[in-house]
Order: sequence, then C-alpha cells, then structure tokens
Amino acid sequence: MDKLRIIGRAKLNGTIRIGGSKNSALPAMAASLLTEDELLLKNVPFVNDIYTTRRLLRELGVEVDFDADHMVRLRAASLQSYEAPYDLVKTMRASVLVLGPLLARLKRARVSLPGGCAIGARPIDLHIKGLQKLGAEVRTEHGYVEATAQKLHGAQIIFDKITVTGTENLMMAAVLAEGQTILENAAREPEVPDLADLLKAMGARIEGAGTPTIVIDGVPALKGASYTVIADRVEAGTFLIAGAITGGDIELTACNPGHLTSVIEKLREAGVSIDTDQASLRVKGGGALVSAYVVTKEHPGFATDMQAQYMALMTQASGIAVITENIFENRFMHASELMRMGANIRIDGPRALVAGKTGLSGANVIASDLRASASLVLAGLAADGATIVDRIYHLDRGYERIEEKLRSVGAQIERLK
Ligand code: UD1
Repeated sequence: MDKLRIIGRAKLNGTIRIGGSKNSALPAMAASLLTEDELLLKNVPFVNDIYTTRRLLRELGVEVDFDADHMVRLRAASLQSYEAPYDLVKTMRASVLVLGPLLARLKRARVSLPGGCAIGARPIDLHIKGLQKLGAEVRTEHGYVEATAQKLHGAQIIFDKITVTGTENLMMAAVLAEGQTILENAAREPEVPDLADLLKAMGARIEGAGTPTIVIDGVPALKGASYTVIADRVEAGTFLIAGAITGGDIELTACNPGHLTSVIEKLREAGVSIDTDQASLRVKGGGALVSAYVVTKEHPGFATDMQAQYMALMTQASGIAVITENIFENRFMHASELMRMGANIRIDGPRALVAGKTGLSGANVIASDLRASASLVLAGLAADGATIVDRIYHLDRGYERIEEKLRSVGAQIERLK
C-alpha cells in the first residue's frame, strides 16, 4: 500500500492548475448509458473512482477509452448487462449512479446496495422512492436493489432530504420517461446543473437545475455529445487551505471561485487573504489565523467535503473553533489522527471543538476516508518533522497526483511505494 511522506513547514509558492470535478465526471460517465451514440467528456480527472467507473461501465457493455489529455470517450451502442455488482459498489458508492440510467434505457437494473461507509450509514432510500414514483417496481433482496418497469412516466417527486446523487439519479431516469417530472427539494450542488447541461447537450429538456425545483420533460431518445466537466471545487478548496496553513502564496487556475463562496468567506473570516478572479484564486497565508465556527450544509452552504481540511486549518488558529457536521453522522475520523499530531480537539456529538493554536508535530497517521486523508496531508504540511500518511488509496480515489501538485509549489512530499 502506498504512503505519503511529508516534511512539514515548507512555505508553498507558485501556481497549481485545478483538475476536473470527480463528482461531476462520475454521473457524466453514467449518462453515457442513456444513448447509443458516442459521448466525449473532457476535463475528466484521472483518479481511481473514475477508473472504477470505467470497469463498471465496461462490465455493462459500454466501450470506454481514455485519451492522454483527460478526455474519455464512451459508447453504449448495445448493453450486455444491467447489473452493478457488489465488488464494485463496495469500493465506490457512486456506482449507484447507474441505477437511474439503466432503468431508463433497459427498463431493468440490478445494483448492489452500497451499505454504510466510514462517514455514515448513507442509505439510498430516496433514490428508490423516487424511481417508484416514476413507475418502477423495486425490490431489495440478497443485498441488491432490483428495479424493473414497463415504462417510466413523469411524476412529482419531493425529496424528504436533499441528496446529491439521488437528484442526479432521478434526473437521469426522468429524461427518457414519458411526460413531465418535477423534482422538489432537489440538490443545488454545482455538479447537478453540470449534469443537467450535459443531458441538455444530449437532447434532454431540463429547467431549473441549480435551484430546488427541477422540471424535466421526457424525450424519446438522447444523442451523443461532447462536453467539458466543471473544475473540482473540493480540490481547489483543499489547495486554498494548503496555502493558508503553510503561510504560502499560491495561485489556483482553471477553477470556479463562484462554487467556493462559503469556503472563501469562512477562510477570510479566519484571517486568510484570498483574491478571486473569474477562473482563478490567489491565497496568501502568513497572517495570524483566528478561529471561525463552521456548520456544514448543503450547497451553497459550507460543503461537508471541506470540513476535514478546515479542521486541520483550525488547529493553527487562535481560540476555539466549533465545527458542526450536519450532513454525515460519523465524519470526524480525522480528529483522532490530528490529535496524535498534537491537535487539541474534543468531539461532542455532531460538534468538534478545536482549540488552537497548537504546534503540530509529524507522526505516522492513517487515512480513514477521502477527505480525512486530505486533512492529514494538510496537517503534515504544517507540522514539524516528518509525517507519514498511510492508506492513501482513499486519497487516490479523488485527488490526481496530489503529491506532484504540492511538490510543484515547494512542498516536501513524496510517495512511498
Ligand atoms: C455526494 C458527494 C459527496 C458529498 C455528499 C454531500 C458524489 C459522488 N458524492 O454524496 O462527495 O459528501 O454528496 O454533499 O457526488 N441520504 C438518505 N437517503 C438517501 C440519500 C441520502 O438518507 O437516499 C442522506 C445521506 O445519508 C446523507 C445526506 O442524505 O446524510 C446527504 O447525502 P447525499 O447528498 O445523498 O450524498 P451522496 O450523493 O452520496
């Protein structure tokens, strides 16, 4: 298993180009199931979740080719299976995104139930309820969701709770359904309108994506398209904190500051200087950091996917920062590892109290999930001495060559094979 070795306290300086959004590329690849024609996706990050999706789509019968420059060509001319097996779903929960498109295209889908993961129970009941409203019969047995439909028809679906992949799954099922579907209390994360824009380029009729109400008028068939996925807001946010925690001066290019408004505002409140331009950001650390409370919320609130990285930063701020995690019930696994590096953190239910500023010292730590891994890397950048982050397969699921990008701005970081 690969590890990362970081020697902390180097000042970071330079420019990092932000890659495409993993969470946009995943549903975009699943959308290839909706047409017999070729889909060309650009700006796809070459991270492990994308390779897992390639394996899954190939098993279903999709031709998938990767080009050197982050381009992926997909063609689902004919499908040979309607099943997402357990061994793929267990490594990547987002495999559930094939449920809606398979049902729309083949009127049949069998997808392993994802089960819980390190950060929480994460059920998919809202995906299932929505598909039932569209006319599917859904049974769960032997650990699988089995959905069939004579045909899918439009319906009004009111989500009890905001769900990102649930909204995406239902949108992909509804584009080929007969009649109008209205999704209420839909997720507004930027990846949702990005998927809607792709589907529209394929011929779908969708209004309102990016707002809580999405209206979809079903069409008989979709065609191929060429589409560029948006920049990864979590990668950009992680590097913003890398600049802030090291007192560095980093420019991030090819990103969308508009997708990071809550994070930028919170970092400014904590004393970090950030300049924004249309597609770039510049972060300057070095001033005194002060603690600022955070409550994770659905977009446009502060993203849960940035909570762990923010906690690493708060160990370097004076005062007590209260961090409330509202989206997932068990997303503080990084706290105990940060404490092994010297952080002063108390967990009280959904709240973490981070008292700073504490001097961090390098240690051997274990990554427990994707964003927790990023938090430990950030702590390692600020710590005295060497930090070894183990189990970075979590990190490789969602960050492309993070060590090379950080090294290019002066970090002392290497991958140990
Ligand atoms: C997506 C993102 C993930 C991010 C999360 C929240 C992808 C591939 N992943 O995950 O990075 O952390 O949004 O922004 O885009 N829930 C239910 N029933 C359901 C579905 C969800 O109770 O059927 C609950 C979940 O347990 C969680 C909350 O709703 O507490 C939000 O989850 P959801 O938005 O669905 O997360 P994902 O789409 O899995």
